[in-house]
Amino acid sequence: MAAGQNRVAGKIALVTGAASGIGRAIAQALAEQGATVLVADIDENTALAVVAEITEAGGSAEAVALDVTDEDQWVAAIDGLLERHHRLDILVNNAGIGGGDGSIEDLTVESWRRIQGVNAEGVMLGCKHGVRAMKQTGGGSIINMSSIAGIVGAPQLAAYCASKGAVRMLTKSVALHCARKGYGIRCNSVHPSYTDTPMVDRMVAAHRDPERMRAALQSASPLGRMGAPADVAGAVLYLASDDSTFVTGIELVVDGGVTAT
Ligand SMILES: NC(=O)c1ccc[n+]([C@@H]2O[C@H](COP(=O)([O-])OP(=O)(O)OC[C@H]3O[C@@H](n4cnc5c(N)ncnc54)[C@H](O)[C@@H]3O)[C@@H](O)[C@H]2O)c1
Repeated sequence: MAAGQNRVAGKIALVTGAASGIGRAIAQALAEQGATVLVADIDENTALAVVAEITEAGGSAEAVALDVTDEDQWVAAIDGLLERHHRLDILVNNAGIGGGDGSIEDLTVESWRRIQGVNAEGVMLGCKHGVRAMKQTGGGSIINMSSIAGIVGAPQLAAYCASKGAVRMLTKSVALHCARKGYGIRCNSVHPSYTDTPMVDRMVAAHRDPERMRAALQSASPLGRMGAPADVAGAVLYLASDDSTFVTGIELVVDGGVTAT
């Protein structure tokens, strides 16, 4: 077997928002490296398609219907997982939404609440029920998907920036709590810049000059390209694996150098 393979062999992983974009790439990477992956998404049909891709490639995966904003669904998903697999080793709270945002002057309470509901409250519920499961079975790694918008501001993304900042600080609180309790649970956040996914496709399509917008996104980073879902999946794989056993409470930036400028 080639070096660097089976980095998460035998581990049980749940990835939210795994039917598309970054979550799909994370699910594929974890499965390729030997984990059994629960592909969780509000869109169950597309989650089933990702499971089919993974199993056709020789990996192990199951689909789970999960709206991350609904605590009852979290309870059912985690309890079902524990019944079938008896442990949870890796939880990636990746599900998130953009769009419907705007500057503080444009923002409505309705879209603020919708964005916080998925991006911030959904991650809180995931951490709560992930910790509940992992502390029973000897620990694990929780990875929360933030964004560079959780570190630097963007004038037109008031609600999105606030939600991703919440994820960044919630992560540190969870990391410290679990360390203090001796649960063996690590919790870290990941901060991509623009990454080429259906979320970005929708944003580009809504722009008055989509071609110019896409070209601007491609050239926005010092490395001269937009991020790929696999770039983010690589960072998540590191945090999920035993290569990072002394790493907790960090914010791992995956941005081609954007925030270094
Ligand atoms: N693409 C980017 O440029 C970028 C940059 C930084 C951070 N992120 C973050 O990465 C994550 C993934 O983004 P993406 O670009 O792959 O988006 P995407 O739109 O391609 O995929 C998001 C997935 O989340 C699912 N989802 C949405 N609401 C859900 C809910 N309530 N419960 C469960 N699943 C739900 C969708 O069905 C979809 O499958 C998000 O948290 C996003 O904020 C994306």
